[in-house]
Amino acid sequence: MSRILIATDLHQRAVLYEALVKLCDEVSPDALILGGDFLHGTGLLPYGKTQQLKVMDCARQLYSIAAPIYFVRGNHEDGNWLHFRDTWWFEQGGQPNRLNGSFAMIGNIGVIGFPCAMGQEEAFSEGEPLGGEHYGYWLPRLLADCGEAARQLWVMHEPPTGTRLSAAGSVVEGHAWWRDAIEEHQPRMVVCGHDHGTPIKSGLWQDQIGRTAVVNVGQNMDGPLHATLVVEKDGVLGCERLVAV
Ligand SMILES: [Fe+2]
Repeated sequence: MSRILIATDLHQRAVLYEALVKLCDEVSPDALILGGDFLHGTGLLPYGKTQQLKVMDCARQLYSIAAPIYFVRGNHEDGNWLHFRDTWWFEQGGQPNRLNGSFAMIGNIGVIGFPCAMGQEEAFSEGEPLGGEHYGYWLPRLLADCGEAARQLWVMHEPPTGTRLSAAGSVVEGHAWWRDAIEEHQPRMVVCGHDHGTPIKSGLWQDQIGRTAVVNVGQNMDGPLHATLVVEKDGVLGCERLVAV
């Protein structure tokens, strides 16, 4: 059995980081994936009313989590990533694990982290800016190299368009290419964020594109924390929605 905890859209909120540290302690996942917008875009007014952490304090909070952490970029990771990465390096003595148009095997679960097509990706992408590239440029190579494992779990900040999990016609509607990629390759599960309000308003967290289960984790800026625990058991993927303070 393998278990991966996924949270998105923390936006540097202290209440969410604190809840995440506690939740990881309780759940003891094999890994934690942050699905983008764990930082908050440089110079932008913060969302929410509660305390906003400094970038370096986000890195320090995560330092206390025992599970390995993988980072997927959202539109709010820009030049702030360099500050985060340098603090991480100083505290942890190594580079943070990025999933940016790349694959990782976590226990029995094959994971692809998608790039983000919005915002400034130069700092995070470290010389491989893929967010503006059609997925046909990078995804087929991963599928060819990693086989069926690369069609298990895809984590993307922006949702695929055309599900009930994002607001159609809005700036958080998502990415049409990601929907095309899902329809074309039919991974077992997709987890996204970005439109963190729609699932909370509707109470609907999961939808379907063909055989693919699509989950929007959602998020409340002032808590409680929303997260998803992806569980693989006997080759079958499922997920459990978690709400934590
Ligand atoms: Fe976002």
